[in-house]
Amino acid sequence: MTKRICIIGAGPSGLAQLRAFQSAADKGAQIPEIVCFEKQPDWGGLWRYTWRTGIDEFGNPCHGSMYRYLWSNGPKEGLEFADYTFEEHFGKPIASYPPRAVLFDYIEGRVKQAGVRDYIRFNTIVRDVRTAGDQFEVTVRDGIQETEDTQTFDHVIVATGHFSVPHMPHYEGFDRFSGRLLHAHDFREAREFTGKDILILGTSYSAEDIGSQCWKYGCKSITVAHRTAPMGYDWPENWQEVPALEKVVGKTAYFIDGTSKDVDAIILCTGYKHHFPFLPDDLRLNTPNVLASNDLYKGVVWNNNPRLFYLGMQDQWYTFNMFDAQAWYVRDIIMDQISVPDLAARKAEVAKRQAEEAALPDDYACIEFQGAYTLELINETDYPSFDIAVANQAFFEWKKLKKKGIMEFRNHGHVSPMTGTKAPPHHTGWTEALDDSLESYLAIN
Ligand SMILES: Cc1cc2nc3c(=O)[nH]c(=O)nc-3n(C[C@H](O)[C@H](O)[C@H](O)COP(=O)(O)OP(=O)(O)OC[C@H]3O[C@@H](n4cnc5c(N)ncnc54)[C@H](O)[C@@H]3O)c2cc1C
Ligand SMILES: NC(=O)c1ccc[n+]([C@@H]2O[C@H](COP(=O)([O-])OP(=O)(O)OC[C@H]3O[C@@H](n4cnc5c(N)ncnc54)[C@H](OP(=O)(O)O)[C@@H]3O)[C@@H](O)[C@H]2O)c1
Repeated sequence: MTKRICIIGAGPSGLAQLRAFQSAADKGAQIPEIVCFEKQPDWGGLWRYTWRTGIDEFGNPCHGSMYRYLWSNGPKEGLEFADYTFEEHFGKPIASYPPRAVLFDYIEGRVKQAGVRDYIRFNTIVRDVRTAGDQFEVTVRDGIQETEDTQTFDHVIVATGHFSVPHMPHYEGFDRFSGRLLHAHDFREAREFTGKDILILGTSYSAEDIGSQCWKYGCKSITVAHRTAPMGYDWPENWQEVPALEKVVGKTAYFIDGTSKDVDAIILCTGYKHHFPFLPDDLRLNTPNVLASNDLYKGVVWNNNPRLFYLGMQDQWYTFNMFDAQAWYVRDIIMDQISVPDLAARKAEVAKRQAEEAALPDDYACIEFQGAYTLELINETDYPSFDIAVANQAFFEWKKLKKKGIMEFRNHGHVSPMTGTKAPPHHTGWTEALDDSLESYLAIN
């Protein structure tokens, strides 16, 4: 009997899974019956911009964490699809740090060409997954019809992302802060903060990028409080890094070194939670945001029930092509091309990968580690292989460029690991490029 497969989420990971199955079908393979449930009205996951915050149009938590004017924070050469290059999609080489709309167009271009849209039930949230013998019962709610139904599947693939449910720490005085207090998840428009003094908590990508956005669009000052260590870039003169926040009184923020700053807004760039409210405890991944996630053999197979898979649950240097590697690998397990070892071997594999991660000395080693993992999966499937060393190199150059000029790194181009072409520089420096549209990005001076 044909297997039935449930994919949850039509973001880059879920779409990679659809593309993996379609690619096998194109080569003449008999593929299983597939249903992908997506709670939003369109595909693209986080790359589908929404103005909504809080609750979505169907009363569910809003998925979007993207904001206007977001440009890729890493080189596109590190995320390029091996089976669908940027040059193929845009018909010419493009610069290395595209804005959101350009990346959305690229993601969409591949799946439009693949013709997989009919597999997706949009506006449909997965509310509950249960094991039922060797199968799963999946209960979904259609937000338009306002109906609920339960279906049986042989495999479930969770591709719901993990940068959508905010981690929100509490600090003394937050409940009486008289300015604007929000998490990065709800940040949408930097111009809201033009002329304002803002305080950012956190020192990772959201802190760096949301601070840079607010600076670019004219906020008065940026103060970033660190819990562990400062970012340490050579920031503009109205940007300061201070030790951890102690408390807030009125509009004054007090830091643990005794200094203080009056601020109009506090933006919590304090990260996200892996959160799967539709899964029972025995199926639910519980992991920090790391490269070697807990309980996932080869980073994708749920150890306690290997008929359940997760995609894209790692911390991410590599993204789209790593999701592809995972999707092709999962497809081949489902289609009996790759076998999964017993529980003891699966656990040992996870433990080994976690020990290796713990021994990594720096970010450069982390990049190589995730590149090697991606290649390891690719080598077991028919996903087109590519030169991981070239992709690693793009990341290395990016890190060095950020140290040289945190507001200028996006003005540089890197070599594609797929085509060997070096990207041209963008026609306008990032700090002057206020128009983030696709048309503007692709325009030639
Ligand atoms: C602000 C921000 C900027 C980023 N910038 C970059 C960048 O520049 N470069 C980069 O490579 N990566 C970036 N990322 C990382 C990002 O995680 C990946 O690029 C990518 O979006 C992950 O894809 P995904 O499919 O795993 O998850 P998501 O993109 O989160 O997609 C998950 C999908 O699952 C759906 N879903 C969730 N729950 C349910 C449910 N219960 N039922 C049905 N559907 C559901 C959601 O609606 C969504 O469509 C960024 C992340 C954030 C938050
Ligand atoms: N332009 C872009 O492309 C762009 C922009 C934004 C985000 N992103 C992506 O979004 C993803 C998530 O990044 P992220 O920065 O949101 O999350 P993250 O990388 O998980 O970082 C979380 C940050 O919050 C801090 N933190 C946690 N709890 C805290 C507390 N109680 N008090 C103070 N600080 C606390 C952590 O500090 P410690 O170091 O002390 O733990 C860390 O600096 C990444 O994949 C990133 O690439 C991309």
